[in-house]
Amino acid sequence: MNKKQEIQIVDVAPRDGFQAVKAPIPTVSKIEVSKALAAANFKRIEVGSFVSPKAIPQMADTKDVHAALSGLSDVRLSTLVPNAIGAKNAIEAGVSDLVFVLSASETHNQSNVKRSVSNSFGELEKIVDMGKCVEGFMLRFNIATVFDCPFEGRVLEQTVQDIIAQAVDLDFPIEFGLCDTTGRAFPDHVASFCSQVIEQYKSNKDIGWAFHGHDTYGLGVANALYAYDAGVRVFDAAAAGLGGCPFAPGASGNTASEDLVFTFENMGVATGIDLEKLLDVAALIDAFPDVDTGGHVRSLPRKRICG
Ligand code: COA
Ligand code: ZN
Repeated sequence: MNKKQEIQIVDVAPRDGFQAVKAPIPTVSKIEVSKALAAANFKRIEVGSFVSPKAIPQMADTKDVHAALSGLSDVRLSTLVPNAIGAKNAIEAGVSDLVFVLSASETHNQSNVKRSVSNSFGELEKIVDMGKCVEGFMLRFNIATVFDCPFEGRVLEQTVQDIIAQAVDLDFPIEFGLCDTTGRAFPDHVASFCSQVIEQYKSNKDIGWAFHGHDTYGLGVANALYAYDAGVRVFDAAAAGLGGCPFAPGASGNTASEDLVFTFENMGVATGIDLEKLLDVAALIDAFPDVDTGGHVRSLPRKRICG
């Protein structure tokens, strides 16, 4: 493996994590978690989503959470948007680091955002147009169900390739998030697909790549390692392994951030994260009522993890 290269972990617990929790989490607790993640030295945190409050009531206070975090410096706070309305609301709330999502599989896209993939792509085009007028605008394009769909099974690589090509044609800086929404991707598939797209677009400096994994089948860390070996350097993960798409039956939490930090750091790959402080955030999240947390290393004695 290519070792000794820095990676960036984006903690998505305040979005992918919290959206999966049914019991309302107080706004003040959401703010506390994001601040604690920043204190653990995360330079990127995905905080909430500007989605329909009917679809995900838990995300209804996203604007307030961002407002309370506006004083944080030296950290990128992004937010998820499913359409142009969400992007407009986010930008009006002062958030210019957006994560747009559509699914490679038609069935999951319908289930998640109630529209066809081509209709969702039209929303992406509108968001790109909006972004051209916003200072400091950054776009992550999360393609959900890249490897596996909870309804259709294995997703054809060509389908994902076509979506990527169409987005690259917009001629706008994009970081693609290759999302294993169900956690049912296998490491060889992750490696081969990541290598393929990285190689294909390597001359385009406006294009970046991230891997967004879930740990449903215990493959989260393995998949991240294979993505790393293929050249990916940005990884989404969630403190305490919280997370999961409410519209993807059977999908459980994100790969735990602390599992990735523990693994990469012990391989000599710097993450920049303070693992002790991250474990404290994981404990904070785990203490919320009705949370379905995951991950592995946080259940071990601290001296065996941080030693
Ligand atoms: N934020 C807030 N409200 C929104 C919105 C957004 N991003 N997009 C649409 N709405 C509002 C519309 O203004 C409209 O309001 P009205 O009833 O007062 O007129 C209403 O929602 C219906 O609009 P429509 O475009 O028909 O939406 P929909 O009912 O088809 O829902 C989504 C589409 C995308 C808004 C909804 O499915 C959604 O928010 N999904 C999010 C899924 C998600 O977060 N999944 C997990 C992350 S991957
Ligand atoms: Zn996810």
